[in-house]
Amino acid sequence: MEAVFEWDGQYSVDCPLLDEQHEELIQLAAELHRRYDAQERGTLAEAFGYMNAYTKYHLRLEEVVMERVDYPQLTEHVEEHRRFEEAIGLLQARFEAGDESAADAAAGLLSDWLLKHIREVDRHLVDYLKQSYPAEELKALMERSYSEVSLYTH
Ligand SMILES: [Fe+2]
Ligand SMILES: [Fe+2]
Repeated sequence: MEAVFEWDGQYSVDCPLLDEQHEELIQLAAELHRRYDAQERGTLAEAFGYMNAYTKYHLRLEEVVMERVDYPQLTEHVEEHRRFEEAIGLLQARFEAGDESAADAAAGLLSDWLLKHIREVDRHLVDYLKQSYPAEELKALMERSYSEVSLYTH
């Protein structure tokens, strides 16, 4: 199946901050895929590196939120994140060893994994948050967590 590189409202988890980051991730994967297709060789490493940095940033944000609320499914959710990061790490290593197609494989993997993960895992987290906190409190919680993670230090 061809990877989907276009954001669509159906992927929304109805949480603006997470939706925004998920959409950004799909766009970063799309850009990496585009550069690979266009054979923009010298620019692949930068796009791959930034996609990975943003991925870590996003996953950490969710993990901070889950820790703050003592999310009952924290362990399973974090494990899913780690398994994915390991798979991307292997592709990164292949890329660094000179296999440029590994960058394109990583773009496809991110998009495939993310859309499935949003549907099956992130959505449960948001449902839990909404059931546990009134909207205003949830907004404040997301903002506090957001201020704790940054794109370049993990
Ligand atoms: Fe997510
Ligand atoms: Fe997640």
